[in-house]
Amino acid sequence: MTRKGQVRAAFGQAAATYDQHAAVQRQVAERLAGRIAALPLPAAPRVLEIGCGTGLLHAALAPRLRAAEWVFTDLSPAMVAAARDRFGADARTAFVAMDGEQPCLHPDARFDLICSSLSFQWFERLGESVAALRRHLAPHGWLAFSTMAAESFHEWRQAHRDLGLEAATPRYPAPAALAALWPGARVEEEPMVQTYASGRDFLRQLKGIGAQVPAPGRPPLTAGQLARVMRRFEAQGARSTYHIAYGFLPAEG
Ligand SMILES: C[S@@+](CC[C@H](N)C(=O)[O-])C[C@H]1O[C@@H](n2cnc3c(N)ncnc32)[C@H](O)[C@@H]1O
Repeated sequence: MTRKGQVRAAFGQAAATYDQHAAVQRQVAERLAGRIAALPLPAAPRVLEIGCGTGLLHAALAPRLRAAEWVFTDLSPAMVAAARDRFGADARTAFVAMDGEQPCLHPDARFDLICSSLSFQWFERLGESVAALRRHLAPHGWLAFSTMAAESFHEWRQAHRDLGLEAATPRYPAPAALAALWPGARVEEEPMVQTYASGRDFLRQLKGIGAQVPAPGRPPLTAGQLARVMRRFEAQGARSTYHIAYGFLPAEG
């Protein structure tokens, strides 16, 4: 199976448990929604959401963008179904299972807002794919996203390094590197520290939302290695920092 197939399957399997493990994702969606609400958008914007999951960003934004037309999309059909079950379909909403890196959009489709919370870190060609999505912005539209940035999970990585091991968590770009990908992009970073009951609890939360697919080429640890890493992580306070990058791209001239 391709890595993208693994990502689709992992999130698909997690669709039913996602919300109960998604405290961080809910907070990030809220913070992104607050920032989007400050953008100069029309009163009834046409919105395309990439990687909608179960709909946390829509839940946070809907009270702020009451008259929006909304196209929910996600790589995982099970996630799209979960969002549809939650919000219901009507004339102003559409639900499409779609890879945000290969969007099945009419070439002339235009949106006032293209948004995505915590899905771009799964993209394989982030720069090109987001640039291609940006071309679907209407004049004066905005592309707004949150994604994982460098130094995320550094405590978990350190626990591995202390034991001469390498963590399988993917590497994320620094905010400045993200901003350099797209002309006119503005990127802000905000750290969020989470404390866990144990190392196992940290892994359970990642698995509960479907975010357990390892970085390419990283073999899994043996059970013994993993137990030692978890003990080390716990000895250091069982804390994990999410460095969240919030990005904003205006429509290009
Ligand atoms: C951590 S969840 C975030 C979901 C939701 N946006 C939220 O804030 O709760 C990541 C989501 O991105 C989706 N995803 C991963 N790769 C994707 C891709 N290439 N195109 C579209 N969605 C993708 C996953 O299926 C999953 O639903």
